[in-house]
Amino acid sequence: VAVADTKIAKSGADGSLIYRGYSIQDLFEKSTFEETAFLILNGRLPSRKELAVFTSRLRRRSHLPPEIYKVLRTLPRGAHPMDILRTAFSALGTIERGLSPDDRKISIIAKMPSLVINSYRVVRGKRPVEPKESLGQGANILYMLRGKAPSAFESWVMERVLILYMEHDFNASAFTVTVVASTLADVYSACTAGLAALKGPLHGGANEAAMQMLTKIGKAENAAAYVQQLLAAHEKIMGFGHRVYKTVDPRAQLTKQLLRRLVAETGKGEALYDLCEAVEKVVWELKKLPANLEFYAAPVFHILGVPQEVDTPLFACSRIVGWVAHYDEQLQDNRIYRPDAVYVGEKGLKYVPISER
Ligand code: ACO
Repeated sequence: VAVADTKIAKSGADGSLIYRGYSIQDLFEKSTFEETAFLILNGRLPSRKELAVFTSRLRRRSHLPPEIYKVLRTLPRGAHPMDILRTAFSALGTIERGLSPDDRKISIIAKMPSLVINSYRVVRGKRPVEPKESLGQGANILYMLRGKAPSAFESWVMERVLILYMEHDFNASAFTVTVVASTLADVYSACTAGLAALKGPLHGGANEAAMQMLTKIGKAENAAAYVQQLLAAHEKIMGFGHRVYKTVDPRAQLTKQLLRRLVAETGKGEALYDLCEAVEKVVWELKKLPANLEFYAAPVFHILGVPQEVDTPLFACSRIVGWVAHYDEQLQDNRIYRPDAVYVGEKGLKYVPISER
């Protein structure tokens, strides 16, 4: 059901995806995180000067305020990183009340990598690592995670995945953000709700679930039996299927190419690549479901050394850009969302006092 007009992005059943009119393949090959973010937020590619100003604004706002660390230190050690992130992000909204609407948007996009990685680090009892203003969004994620600078190639790989994750029209989390925006709540509230929607395994949580499944299957020879068993039990195969893409998810294809390159360049994960291909082949043969972005993003993150439970928060690091664009678009021509539902319950019941029940 079409619920709105949007100029931000469009995914098509033919396996196409555009951001503001540009194909995902073009942006994946030629753009950067910051340039694609500018495009999604402003509806056009930036000039050199605009990009420099935007990038410098982001980097200057990438550090977390000390109050966030105080909140993080009160959370239980074993908490899931997505719950930690949602809590820390919501807390940020209580701290940045004085910022202008424009600075708020820059701030939340800029702070996401540090929120994701440092909230994970602190709650696991590690010291935070300050983001480096000389690094881009992708490189900073790996730098804060490892405490040392990643190679240029690894940074490039991480940035490609972030570009693919950045926006996807009216997916569940973006729609959630839009509904909250339509009540005129602030952008922190709307994106906290977006994080809550993203967490579920049918949406952003699928990358972590796909990696857990791949770990369980273990090797390519086990793929067919494992998938058959899941299908027989009517269970979902994580990282497969999509509401829009019925034959191919273009983001999964691009991430698969990336995985192949990562394996070739680093010499790590050859067996994991074979396992992914075997699962993809058998799921297509038995159920005609295509792999989605989550299925191939998970092994890329794994080879880059990202802990499985940080996979979904990393999705948020990039999708925050799309959420902010949807928040803005909703407010440009706002009317509160108030859908109808078909009532299928009982009618005309007579109230019986509790003493007589
Ligand atoms: N494993 C097994 N069966 C599936 C799967 C799957 N991953 N996906 C769909 N199906 C089945 C459905 O149960 C349904 O079967 P039926 O006709 O026998 O009842 C049939 O395929 C058609 O399903 P759709 O209508 O295409 O699925 P829907 O649009 O409702 O759901 C969704 C899409 C949620 C993504 C689903 O495919 C799914 O649960 N996938 C696994 C979770 C996942 O990978 N989510 C990530 C989505 S992409 C993203 O967030 C970036």
